[in-house]
Amino acid sequence: MGEAANLLAKSKFAIAFTGAGISAGSGIPTFRDSEGLWRRYRPEELATPSAFQKNPALVWEFYRWRMKKILEARPNAAHYALAELERLGVIKAVITQNVDDLHRESGTKNLLELHGNIFRVRCTSCDYKENLKESERLEEFVSSKDLPRCPRCGALLRPDVVWFGESLPSDVLERAFSLARKADLVLVVGTSGVVYPAAYIPYIVKEGGGRVIEINPKVSAITPIADVFIRAPAEDVMEELLRKVRDFIENGSRQRERLKTL
Ligand code: APR
Repeated sequence: MGEAANLLAKSKFAIAFTGAGISAGSGIPTFRDSEGLWRRYRPEELATPSAFQKNPALVWEFYRWRMKKILEARPNAAHYALAELERLGVIKAVITQNVDDLHRESGTKNLLELHGNIFRVRCTSCDYKENLKESERLEEFVSSKDLPRCPRCGALLRPDVVWFGESLPSDVLERAFSLARKADLVLVVGTSGVVYPAAYIPYIVKEGGGRVIEINPKVSAITPIADVFIRAPAEDVMEELLRKVRDFIENGSRQRERLKTL
């Protein structure tokens, strides 16, 4: 933990890369753990364009169920620690695979959502897009059983998330890759690291000579390239990591003060 805090405190341009595991502490199921969503449901029936084509009602039932679960959840200590590390100027951006909006809710400002946001919907025909949290329609939308239709053209609305087989929003992905190329450290929290192109992020930082810190209670596909691997649930360790980073920063500035007066 001390080494991770030291690396973070000394970094010049650190970013965070997160997956479903950071929200596990908020009670939101991950995808590939034993209780994960893809262990209980078949993603090809619920999270693909063909699934939506074939049975939009089933897909909307699944996404409304996920929206309800997420609305019952609150950000946990790990989300808040990341937001504080950004406020301290240590973490410059959070690149997330999560669609649950908990990073934004916990105060992260510079947030890149590679796989979209479950509270945004978009039209399957025109370019209509709506953030349900901002449009005050959320409660009614989540509790409705009807297929949601575009208020502009009447076509079906779909969740504004990236499904299997779909490409990621190119502008967000390009910004994420350029941040990774610039970063001298990436804090990887709660991802199995098996879904591409998102999973390239830690490798891009590593290839650029940057350091990789991983927080995960289990070994993941990223662990082999981690310089520091903190084997623990994120919600259990990130407050302590934040405290240690703050100590290093404060000691560092006290030392610089002393050097100035010598
Ligand atoms: N703290 C940190 N990590 C945790 C915790 C926790 N409390 N609980 C579980 N994890 C770890 C698991 O060990 C696993 O490595 O989180 C990871 C979750 O992996 P996945 O379920 O595969 O989720 P993720 O990596 O985010 O999946 C990537 O796949 O299905 C798509 O679009 C979906 O964005 C998702 C992408």
